[in-house]
Amino acid sequence: MEHFHRRKGVLHAQSYACSQLAEEFGTPLFVYSREALESAWQQFSDALEKHPHLICYAVKANSNLAVLDVLARLGSGFDIVSGGELKRVLAAGGEPENIVFSGVGKTSAELTDALEIGIRCFNVESEAELDRLGAIAAALDMVAPVSLRINPDVDAQTHPYISTGLKENKFGINMDKAIELYQRAEQMPSINVQGMDCHIGSQLTNIEPYQDALERLIGLVDQLDSLGIKLSHLDVGGGHGICYQDEAPLDIDQWARCVIDAVGERELEILVEPGRFIAGPAGILLTRVEYLKSNEDKHFAVVDAAMNDLIRPALYSAWQAIEAVEPRDTEPKQYDVVGPVCESSDFLGKNRPLSIEQGDLLAVMQAGAYGFVMSSNYNTRPRAAEVMVSGDEAYVVRERENVEDLFVDESVLP
Ligand code: LLP
Repeated sequence: MEHFHRRKGVLHAQSYACSQLAEEFGTPLFVYSREALESAWQQFSDALEKHPHLICYAVKANSNLAVLDVLARLGSGFDIVSGGELKRVLAAGGEPENIVFSGVGKTSAELTDALEIGIRCFNVESEAELDRLGAIAAALDMVAPVSLRINPDVDAQTHPYISTGLKENKFGINMDKAIELYQRAEQMPSINVQGMDCHIGSQLTNIEPYQDALERLIGLVDQLDSLGIKLSHLDVGGGHGICYQDEAPLDIDQWARCVIDAVGERELEILVEPGRFIAGPAGILLTRVEYLKSNEDKHFAVVDAAMNDLIRPALYSAWQAIEAVEPRDTEPKQYDVVGPVCESSDFLGKNRPLSIEQGDLLAVMQAGAYGFVMSSNYNTRPRAAEVMVSGDEAYVVRERENVEDLFVDESVLP
C-alpha cells in the first residue's frame, strides 16, 4: 500500500484521512509517514547489503527528532552540517560513531565538540579546515578521523542552486590539489586519514553523474594507494532524486550496483548520505483554502500555507504536486495556489487544475524533505505543526508555534 493514497476519493496518510488530521491538528500541517521513512531507508540497506556500508541520513533534509529517532532505531548513521544537527542526532539517540560531519564552514567550537563526542569522521572541505582541525585535535591531545571532500568537477545535471560538484561551486577540494593535501594530512600526527568523500548535487535522476564522479574518485584512491596512503572508506554523498512531477526517480539498486562495481575488490566501506530520497516522499503539507478569487486572466486559490512554510517553489521554481484532499465533482479550473505573504514569489504552484471550493483542503506532495526545515517566521507567521503517522496512530512531533513566542526574546530600548 502507498503510504499516501486515496480511499473513496479521500487522501489518506496510511489509515488516517487527511481531512481528519487537519481537523484534529489544524493547518498548515506537515504530515510524515513513519513507514514511508523506513521503507525508503530500507531500499538503501537492501541494495548495499552485500558490501560493508553505512547509511548516513542527511539530517538537513528533515531534522525533526521523531524522524531521526525512527532512523536511529533502524541503525542509521547521520550526516550533519552543524553543531545544532549534532545535538539533535544525539538527542534522538544516534550513535556518535555513526556520524559524519560535512560542510564548508565548521567553526572551532563545532569541531571541538564533535571531536570530544567522538564522531566517526570529519568530511574536510579545505586545507584551512584541515589545519584548524589538526591544531584543535593536537591541543586536546586527540586524533581526528578525516575524509577529504573532493570536488570531482562533474555536471550533476540538476538545478544550479543544488549542484555542488563543479569547480565553480564552493564545495570540496579540487582534484588537482587532492594528492598533495592527502600527503600533508598523512604527515599530521593529530590527523588520521580515513576516507574520501564527495557530494555532487541534489535531486539527481540520472546515474551518469555518479558514474563520472566515481570514476574520478576511484582513480584518486588508487593513486593514493600507490603512494602508500590507504583509505578505508569511500563516502559517495547523497543526491538521489525522487519523482516530483514526471521524473523517473533514481533506481537505488542500479545506483548501488554502480558504486559496488566501481569499488570492485578494494577494501573500502561505502558510506552514503541520502536526505531527500528518505524524507521527501514521506511527507506532505496540508493547507486550507481561505479564499478563491478570479480576474479576467487568472484564478487564485489563496491558502493558509505560504513561502515561509515551503520555500522550494519560490526559491528554485521547484514544482511540487498539489492535490485536493477531497476533490469536488465540478470541472477543474486552473489555479495559482498562493499564500498570504506579501511577495509575488509567494506561491506553492501555478496553473494547477483543481476542483475546489473555499474551505477545502489541499495537500502539497513530496514535502517531507527541505520543507519544514527551511521554513521561517517571515511576516510573523508561526511555523506549522508536524505530525507523524505510525500504524493507526498520529502523533504531534512538533507543536505549532505561538505568535507570542515569536517575539518573546525581543526587547525595546529603555
Ligand atoms: N550530503 C551533503 C554534503 C549535502 O550537502 C547534501 C545536501 C546531502 C548529503 C543530501 O542531499 P540529498 O540526498 O537530500 O539530495 N534545499 C534544496 C536541497 C539542498 C541540498 C543540500 N545538500 C532543495 O530543497 O532542493
